[in-house]
Amino acid sequence: MSSFNIFSMAFLLALVVIKGADLVADGLVHPVFLEKNVYVVEGVEASGGDQEPADSGSEIEPVEPLLASANLENGQKVAKKCLQCHTFEKGGKAKTGPNLWGIVDKAVGTVEGYAYSKAMKEHGGKWTYATLNDYLYKPRQAVPGTKMSFAGLKKTQDRADLIAYISSLK
Ligand code: HEC
Repeated sequence: MSSFNIFSMAFLLALVVIKGADLVADGLVHPVFLEKNVYVVEGVEASGGDQEPADSGSEIEPVEPLLASANLENGQKVAKKCLQCHTFEKGGKAKTGPNLWGIVDKAVGTVEGYAYSKAMKEHGGKWTYATLNDYLYKPRQAVPGTKMSFAGLKKTQDRADLIAYISSLK
C-alpha cells in the first residue's frame, strides 16, 4: 500500500469513528427543547409580552390568611421592584406610576394629578387586600388596558408580605 492509501484509509477510519460516536451520543442524549424561555427578566415585562401560557384561568390564591403572619421585611424587599416606577412615602412624587402612599382602601385611579390610563380611570371600586392581590398577581389580567408594565408577583407569600408592608406605611 502506498503511503497515500494508508493516509486516506486512516482518514476514512477516523470519519467512521467520529460519525459513530456522534450517533451514540445522539442516542444517549436526547436534545431537549424548552417550551418556554428560561431567561426571564424578573418583574419588568417587554411591551406586548402578555401571551403567557394558559395560567390565566387559574384561581389566584388569596393573601388574607397570610397577612397576620406577614413578613414586613420581605415586603419591603419585594417593594424594591416597584420603586422603579412608584414612590411610597407620603407626598412622594409620581414617577412612571402614581405615588402609592395610603393606597390600601383608596379609590382606584384617584391620585391627584396623575394621568391614568383610561382603563384605570374608569375601573371604579377601591384598592382592598383582595383587589390589590388580583392586580399584583397579574396587572394586565386584573385591569385589562392598564399601562403598568409589570409582569406581576406570582408568589402568594410575596404579595401578602408586600401588601402588609404597604398598608403598614400609613
Ligand atoms: C414599570 C413601571 C411599574 C412598576 C415596576 C410597577 N408599577 Fe404600579 N403602576 C405603574 C403605572 C404606569 C401605573 C398606572 C396604571 C394605569 O394608569 O393604568 C401603576 C399603577 C399602580 C397601582 C394603582 C394606583 C392607583 O392610584 O389606582 C397600584 C396599586 C400599583 N401600581 C402597585 C404597584 C406595586 C405594588 C408594584 C410593585 C410590586 C408596582 N406597582 C410596580 C407602573 C409600574
